Amino acid sequence: MASTEEPVRIAHFSDIHYTLPPSLNWQDWESKYTAGCANYYLGGRRRHFADAGARIQSLLTDVDLQSVDHAICSGDITQMARTSEFEGVAQLFGDRRLRPDRFTVIPGNHDRYTPRSVTEDRFARWFGALASPLGIYPYLKWIANKRIALILLDVSRATGIGDSSGLCGAHQLRVLATILGSQELASACTILVLHYGFFRANGEPDRPRHGLRDYRELLSVVRARRGLVNLVLHGHLHQEFVLDSHNPVIVCAGSATDLSVRGGWNLLRLWPERGRLVVEHREWSVSSASYVPGAVRLLDLRR
Ligand SMILES: [Fe+2]
Ligand SMILES: [Fe+2]
Repeated sequence: MASTEEPVRIAHFSDIHYTLPPSLNWQDWESKYTAGCANYYLGGRRRHFADAGARIQSLLTDVDLQSVDHAICSGDITQMARTSEFEGVAQLFGDRRLRPDRFTVIPGNHDRYTPRSVTEDRFARWFGALASPLGIYPYLKWIANKRIALILLDVSRATGIGDSSGLCGAHQLRVLATILGSQELASACTILVLHYGFFRANGEPDRPRHGLRDYRELLSVVRARRGLVNLVLHGHLHQEFVLDSHNPVIVCAGSATDLSVRGGWNLLRLWPERGRLVVEHREWSVSSASYVPGAVRLLDLRR
């Protein structure tokens, strides 16, 4: 068993968006799929996620090389939740999909892009084993020899055209409050993982049609007992940032593969017993076609 003096090493990446050119397959055509095609050809997604599969491959290799105890992906693994995209990204993950002890993946809104993708429960079909195995959220998952508790939320759903918002919902809020009040978590280092954050990089709330609709309600549950949630990890916003003056500390990994931002992933070194966290951003380097060390931040999680 690892010494409590040793940090737990966690990889956090998000919004890898495995992307294939839109097909003419009639089975894919739904109104939201049409919006996705426009986003691909006119909104820049074709350029931003060109050859994303190669970067996902590099990302997973880099994560393995960093000898992490656990890797967390906070959603948007596909672009339009098509069957072919899930098949492609599942192939890149390979046997990692059989290791929930080492990997956690939760769904993002792009993994529930169309109503049909929800009806067919495509995310769960390919990645359910790395999320909540029974599809029940919030899901409490202990990692690193029970030194850290992850609480996974599922706040992503299919939405109409022009709407990419998420919703936690009354049921998850209620159950989360119960979990956070349990004796089991009283002295644990607890990380809340969800696709959407509470705020943008400037600390302001996101637009209603892009952010989490009930972020205020979720925040009040999270803050009801000070210090119980030590850290929030999320994605959805593709530019990475840290809000360290907030309670709790919030880390958005940004997109690991979006070429329009300084994409990358975060290597977290966390001393749960001391509440110390070092976040090292590993950025995608176009010139070397690999992830290289970027900014390093030292954070105090004790509130
Ligand atoms: Fe995304
Ligand atoms: Fe998203």
